Amino acid sequence: MTYRLALVTGATSGIGKATCQLLAQQGIEIIASGRNTQQLRLLQEQLSQQTTIHTLEADLAKPEDRQKLVQILHERAPDLVINNAGYGLYGEALNHSTDEQMTLLEVNGQAVLELTLEAARALIKEQKRGVILNVSSAAGFQVFPHMAVYAATKSFVTQFSQAFDFEVRKQGVRVLTICPGMVATAFQERAGGAQQRRKVGVMTPAFVAAEIWKQIEQLKPLSIVNWQYKILTFLSFLLPTSWVARLCGRIIEERISPRTLNKMHE
Ligand SMILES: NC(=O)c1ccc[n+]([C@@H]2O[C@H](COP(=O)([O-])OP(=O)(O)OC[C@H]3O[C@@H](n4cnc5c(N)ncnc54)[C@H](OP(=O)(O)O)[C@@H]3O)[C@@H](O)[C@H]2O)c1
Repeated sequence: MTYRLALVTGATSGIGKATCQLLAQQGIEIIASGRNTQQLRLLQEQLSQQTTIHTLEADLAKPEDRQKLVQILHERAPDLVINNAGYGLYGEALNHSTDEQMTLLEVNGQAVLELTLEAARALIKEQKRGVILNVSSAAGFQVFPHMAVYAATKSFVTQFSQAFDFEVRKQGVRVLTICPGMVATAFQERAGGAQQRRKVGVMTPAFVAAEIWKQIEQLKPLSIVNWQYKILTFLSFLLPTSWVARLCGRIIEERISPRTLNKMHE
């Protein structure tokens, strides 16, 4: 299948930005969305030699901004939609405000649901074939203390996307889910983590973007990136949940920056 127009959320950084760079190399027209206007402008400057690129500033935590994206979906019916925007919050759920965690659920869960449903409706209405790829996480397979809400949002994305794929594939729309392990992006710091020290098992955003493209070409419903995380996920299904949960919690505790820990215990 060839793609003409892609909409990418979270295009200003990390995996989303690397994916836009890859799509531009294929000459696919792009609608790049994010909150950071300066980064959106830079991306447009960088990629406009290779393809037509439009930018759309939108905060996915705001229903009125999500509406701007829904409108574009219905006006243009992109045949490739990559719901990539998302973030995490490290630390115990009671150490973050309820509002903060509701917003996380809105960006990682509600926005993905809304954009997936509306992208599918737009394609079906136009009788076009297309792919919606949702960026979930290997964390979504685990009971994950210190990242409880994030992991739960990703679990929702993985479950919903796979089931919805079965419902719409007969109408020519595919919904694919990618679950990366740890990627070297701004994610860790934004989640309240210390600067990343560990290099083993950490992927580059360009590697994940290449995996996204491979998955789209193969129309593979679910992909866990990379082989280490495939093995870890498989093992986690065999081991007692309490054991895996304790291990997951400890991994995140080690990542939380001392500054964030102080704030949390104030
Ligand atoms: N890095 C990892 O280890 C890892 C592992 C598994 C899955 N993932 C998933 O991969 C996706 C991309 O993350 P990344 O690692 O590339 O992190 P990143 O570099 O921090 O990029 C996150 C992107 O999401 C956008 N975003 C965040 N909040 C938003 C909001 N309220 N409204 C609109 N856009 C928003 C950001 O845009 P602005 O800055 O413009 O707001 C940014 O472009 C996320 O869904 C994440 O959960 C990451």
